[in-house]
Amino acid sequence: MAMGKALVVGASGLVGGALMRALRAARIDCVGTYGAHPQSGLVALDITSSDRLRACLERHRPETIFLAAALTHVDYCEDHPGEAFKINLEGPGTLAEAARAIGAQVVYYSTDYVFDGKAGPYDEEAHAAPLSVYGRTKLAAERALQEIVESVLILRTTGAFGWDLNSKNFAMQVYYKVRARERMTIPMDQFGNPTLAEYLAEMSLALAQQGVRGIVNVVGEDLIARSEFARALVRLYGGSSDLVVPVPTESLKQKAARPLFGGLRTEKLERLVGRKAMALDDALKRLAHQWKDCVAST
Ligand SMILES: NC(=O)c1ccc[n+]([C@@H]2O[C@H](COP(=O)([O-])OP(=O)(O)OC[C@H]3O[C@@H](n4cnc5c(N)ncnc54)[C@H](OP(=O)(O)O)[C@@H]3O)[C@@H](O)[C@H]2O)c1
Repeated sequence: MAMGKALVVGASGLVGGALMRALRAARIDCVGTYGAHPQSGLVALDITSSDRLRACLERHRPETIFLAAALTHVDYCEDHPGEAFKINLEGPGTLAEAARAIGAQVVYYSTDYVFDGKAGPYDEEAHAAPLSVYGRTKLAAERALQEIVESVLILRTTGAFGWDLNSKNFAMQVYYKVRARERMTIPMDQFGNPTLAEYLAEMSLALAQQGVRGIVNVVGEDLIARSEFARALVRLYGGSSDLVVPVPTESLKQKAARPLFGGLRTEKLERLVGRKAMALDDALKRLAHQWKDCVAST
């Protein structure tokens, strides 16, 4: 099914940026929005302003809306639940109503933080029990969106990463630490599937074009500890592996509780797209190319 005009809400973020690149590569007409961080080629949109949201949808009349905007700082959300629910639940709710009014398909991004991390990796049917404010906002939004737009596609992901100078994603944080030869304390007991943002974007397009509805996990194939993932990134950037100091989560005194044995199962995704989820080695090879291209061009 060919995709008509697309709107990427949160295109100034990691996932939204990757979506814009994937849409442009597929020659799909698309408009992207930013919240507080202007980027050239994107339009301003605060999803907590219902008037502006409706006006934006009326003006651009997208056929498909990729909703990647969210307050993603998990510890900040814990301290600011009001703001977190406003951006992560009310905003998506208003957007979904406006989308329904113009008959647009909605693709929403969610997380394995909707689970308590006692029994990961989780499939799409597993019982959700978030431990944090962030996780609660995302689960509440999943449910609200399913009520409002029956055809919503909810893509759950974990540990998204990519080469993106505008982003503070884990791969970029590790890069800056390696460059500064700074040690980093990384949890050894938080498990998830690192997911290349480009891969998430490509799968998003494939699933949206197939008209898939409901919840689908879109993650990389490999389930590993955060500290192991950090080591793999350090190796990729040519740093010394002793820059990574593995520590128990408990010692980090993070504000929000983390689902330790998190991660997501990929059988449904693999069935839908007819191939295995992306292996971490392949994702890291793509990251290395992007990094080297960037260094070569500066
Ligand atoms: N990254 C991960 O590991 C991960 C894992 C699981 C799920 N997810 C989900 O995937 C989605 C995308 O994540 P990401 O990593 O790309 O996040 P991100 O890099 O933090 O980007 C968040 C985006 O949301 C926008 N935004 C924030 N508040 C807004 C507001 N009030 N109005 C309009 N836009 C607003 C930001 O715009 P400005 O920066 O311009 O303000 C930015 O474009 C989120 O829904 C997140 O919950 C991500």
